[in-house]
Amino acid sequence: MKPLKVAICGGGRTGHLNAILFKQLPDVQVSMLTGNPRVVDQHTRGKPMQALLPDGSTLSAHLDCLTTQARLAVEDADIVIITVPAHARAQTLQAIAPHLSTDKPVYIGAIPGFCGFDWLAESLLAEQPNLVIWGMKDVPHTAFDLKPGCSIKMGGGKQQLYVATHARESAASRQQLQQLLSRLYGPCVTLLDNYLEITLTPGNPIMHSSVIYGLIGPYGQWHRKIFPQPLCWWTECPELGAYFLERMDQESQDLCAVISQRLGIDLSSVKSLKQEIIEAYGEQIRDRSSMLSILRTNQAYNDILAPMVPAADNRAGYVIERESRAFNEDVAYGLVLLVEMAKRFDLKVPYIEEVLNWSVSYMQGLRDSALDYFPNHWPRTA
Ligand SMILES: NC(=O)c1ccc[n+]([C@@H]2O[C@H](COP(=O)([O-])OP(=O)(O)OC[C@H]3O[C@@H](n4cnc5c(N)ncnc54)[C@H](OP(=O)(O)O)[C@@H]3O)[C@@H](O)[C@H]2O)c1
Repeated sequence: MKPLKVAICGGGRTGHLNAILFKQLPDVQVSMLTGNPRVVDQHTRGKPMQALLPDGSTLSAHLDCLTTQARLAVEDADIVIITVPAHARAQTLQAIAPHLSTDKPVYIGAIPGFCGFDWLAESLLAEQPNLVIWGMKDVPHTAFDLKPGCSIKMGGGKQQLYVATHARESAASRQQLQQLLSRLYGPCVTLLDNYLEITLTPGNPIMHSSVIYGLIGPYGQWHRKIFPQPLCWWTECPELGAYFLERMDQESQDLCAVISQRLGIDLSSVKSLKQEIIEAYGEQIRDRSSMLSILRTNQAYNDILAPMVPAADNRAGYVIERESRAFNEDVAYGLVLLVEMAKRFDLKVPYIEEVLNWSVSYMQGLRDSALDYFPNHWPRTA
């Protein structure tokens, strides 16, 4: 079989885990682009990387190429997987674009593909028609406790992996993509009809922002206060946060219904967040009676800390980190997109807008956002 050349861009948790898993497969070559020279250093010294699996076993891998240079990582790749957070994707795409092959199809995708990766890639890669743009709805496995260049722990895996392509891609390209991803992930890969099924699936953008708003927003019990100790996102989720989350989940569903109806597309695969969580975690949730109880009693969510940093000026305690991904990724690239999409359909989403506006002020304004690439003409085609 012809070797499949996979380039992973981003040497974080998701990047490490996927790279190690792919290296277990026959005829798959894996390169990884990282910004961390220490990871390259480990590789140069011949140290294999290890994935620690939930059953206690270990997988080892020595990648074919591990580099800080975009050209070396991607120049001959058949498939490129972007695993950096949404706010870092543009920079990564700009770095690799000049080095991608022009004389064969190159399947360039994001894991996870949320925050409108299809629109970003279209805007930055317009001149390269051989590129096939795709995204995966979620990460195939959670990944945590990264020791860069050395080891990564694998968490729970998804039974099914949902993938969508940019609307411009042909049926033949879609079929080829499914074959390539099935070679990497097995037969659990399902192709969705429309990329909006990924973009509109509710997740971190509404989850993280609503909980933070409920904690430290204007009506939160910790408004302008310092936390005496770090706080768990979900087991200590405030009632107000769960209330906003439930409202935002409903508005997100309303947006989906309007888009589905006006554009005449089937978005029935997009479920409410509540339903997604119940289906994903099943018996691990002790009490499914409300959003609050689902979040607080999901064992899979135990011990996950909210993003906090020590309070400034030597004061004892902690504050929610303004520079965290909950703002830079989830607010600037997730919530912003939802509100703009709703605007284009004259749909009111007051709860999402309230949380967005407060979050942006807490962030001291948006530096960059999904609006940098969201097409002006949408929902009309170009
Ligand atoms: N880990 C999970 O279980 C999980 C679960 C659900 C969703 N996700 C999503 O998967 C994506 C990747 O998450 P991850 O957990 O793999 O992240 P991560 O461990 O923080 O790794 C992200 C990597 O992206 C690169 N990067 C470049 N610019 C960056 C920037 N401005 N900020 C942060 N990282 C930057 C860095 O790679 P270098 O070190 O090589 O420079 C970094 O290590 C995110 O969108 C996240 O929301 C992850």
